[in-house]
Amino acid sequence: MEKTFLMVKPDGVQRNLIGEIVSRFEKKGFQLAGAKLMQIPQELAEQHYGEHKERPFFGELVEFITSGPVFAMVWEGENVISTARLMMGATNPKESAPGTVRGDYAVTVGKNIIHGSDSPESAEREINLFFNQEELVSYEKQINNWVN
Ligand code: PPS
Repeated sequence: MEKTFLMVKPDGVQRNLIGEIVSRFEKKGFQLAGAKLMQIPQELAEQHYGEHKERPFFGELVEFITSGPVFAMVWEGENVISTARLMMGATNPKESAPGTVRGDYAVTVGKNIIHGSDSPESAEREINLFFNQEELVSYEKQINNWVN
């Protein structure tokens, strides 16, 4: 089953949105495979956002993501990578639709509440950066028979 990496950013944690965000993905029909509240070390932040190293906001991005705890998660389900991106909304909250996480809760591009992998390759890379294999749980839920 497809897996993706999602993370409630420091602004989402500070604004008490962990439960709301987990609830949206649960209710959609996706299954939580791993989760942890953590403070991202500088080096991990630089690795995670490595592809944006040359962009003018890179320093700001790393400073923000290390500014407080984040809630890192692995979710699984059919088409979870692309569907989670739709549920998150556009990167810039001024373009994200109401009903999406960013459309409902964010105002500026810097503080946009949630991160989600944008492709199967980045999902695999980001899951492996943040989680050990032993931290991920595979289990059967009867409710999945009513989703798929
Ligand atoms: S995306 O979704 O990867 O296509 O978005 P992108 O525009 O490439 O942005 C990558 C991440 O950088 C964050 N970002 C910014 N942070 C601070 N200031 C500015 N101006 C800015 N522009 C983009 C954006 O929120 C993306 O973070 P993640 O965690 O990947 O969503």
